[in-house]
Amino acid sequence: MATTLIKNAQMITMDSQERVLKGDVLIDGDRIIEVAEQIEAVADRTIDAAGKTLLPGFIQTHIHLCQTLFRGRADDLELLDWLRNRIWPLEAAHDEESVYYSAMLGIGELIRSGTTTILDMETVHHTDSAFRAIEESGIRAFSGKVMMDHGGDVPARLNESTEVSLQASVDLLERWHGKANGRIQYTFCPRFVVSCTEELLIGVRDLSRQYNVKVHTHASENRGEIALVERERGKRNVLYLDHLGLATPDLILAHCVWLNEEEKEVIRARGVKVTHCPGSNLKLSSGIAEVPDLLRKQVAVGIGSDGAPCNNTLDMFSEMRMTALIQKTLHGPTAMDAKTVLRMATMGGAEVLGMEREIGSIEPGKKADLILLELDEFHAYPSFEADPYSRVVYSAGYSDVDTVLIDGELVMRNKLLLTVDKGTVLKESDRSIERLLRRLNEGG
Ligand code: GUN
Ligand code: FE
Repeated sequence: MATTLIKNAQMITMDSQERVLKGDVLIDGDRIIEVAEQIEAVADRTIDAAGKTLLPGFIQTHIHLCQTLFRGRADDLELLDWLRNRIWPLEAAHDEESVYYSAMLGIGELIRSGTTTILDMETVHHTDSAFRAIEESGIRAFSGKVMMDHGGDVPARLNESTEVSLQASVDLLERWHGKANGRIQYTFCPRFVVSCTEELLIGVRDLSRQYNVKVHTHASENRGEIALVERERGKRNVLYLDHLGLATPDLILAHCVWLNEEEKEVIRARGVKVTHCPGSNLKLSSGIAEVPDLLRKQVAVGIGSDGAPCNNTLDMFSEMRMTALIQKTLHGPTAMDAKTVLRMATMGGAEVLGMEREIGSIEPGKKADLILLELDEFHAYPSFEADPYSRVVYSAGYSDVDTVLIDGELVMRNKLLLTVDKGTVLKESDRSIERLLRRLNEGG
């Protein structure tokens, strides 16, 4: 396998000792094999990182690649109207090619801005197209088709029977789980309790145990959603999921804005994982999640930008900034510091995915999922004795990402994507949304 040597980087390792050092990293194939101040090895490929900052790639634990094409077409709405009036009809109008370019557009933006791993929820149909884009682009992804067999105001094309939803998920799992050197991990994605029968959720529980794969859903995002769940199921979201036996360390909940104390205790005690989506929560006027309280309770919390139509960017720098700033407004200036936020964006995400031994930090034995920032612009100066965490979280941005490696493969170099053809993806994403909107307006 090919070796790669990264020389003279300013490293923020995010390892257990929180080491920040200047030095080299040696990679053999897909794994880091050595981290030291000076490595005298001859590698197949050498990357000169002098003057650049090396970080573990960002991990985003809630994304909808299938929604990237809907950017800017569902602004200024609350969750349930946003879904019923815009997102569901748009998802229903997708075709095989539009899902592929929606995914490629999203992945291009994600890699360009330093995200190397995602937890992604697709739509009901054409999920093979998203997996194809994931495979070709080189991004690391946990993903699955969304499952929905219940609820009003859902376009007919999205409403599946319980049996078909479960079988289609298993079929996808068998085609994609573990593919691309393990870079692709299938994940069961029941949309949210509002969209799922009890039978479907129980089926998901049993299948996730049988195949040992994660379950990802939305929970307690919006007060209207919670009221609807309580009315239909007689329980709040997390208590209902626990009642069905779904609250386990393999359950990853997006949002968790409106948890009560009992729900927080279930999450803590059962080892359920949480994804914080500050941009989405602010834009859909959902609320502000009590992240400092969850972290105090030792709950694993990752960060995700959610879908493009509720944010409207997939940029982790933007999410990190919001993660810190919104808590300061509520709880004071020390409620969320830069190091805590960068930890959530890296090791926190790894813990959410049960991948803390594989990704999330720069350490020998881990996968080589790494990003280099070139902090040579006005906004990142002065650099003299700058706090490295502050510089990355509060000052740096999308355009500073210079190089990205995933699974030991170079996917971006000198700010140029190597696995995603930008010109084609931009052009085809326009063609795809045009075709999709025509189909939507024709009611077919
Ligand atoms: N709840 C159910 N579906 C969705 C979705 O697509 N996005 C968000 N943000 N919340 C949801
Ligand atoms: Fe979402």
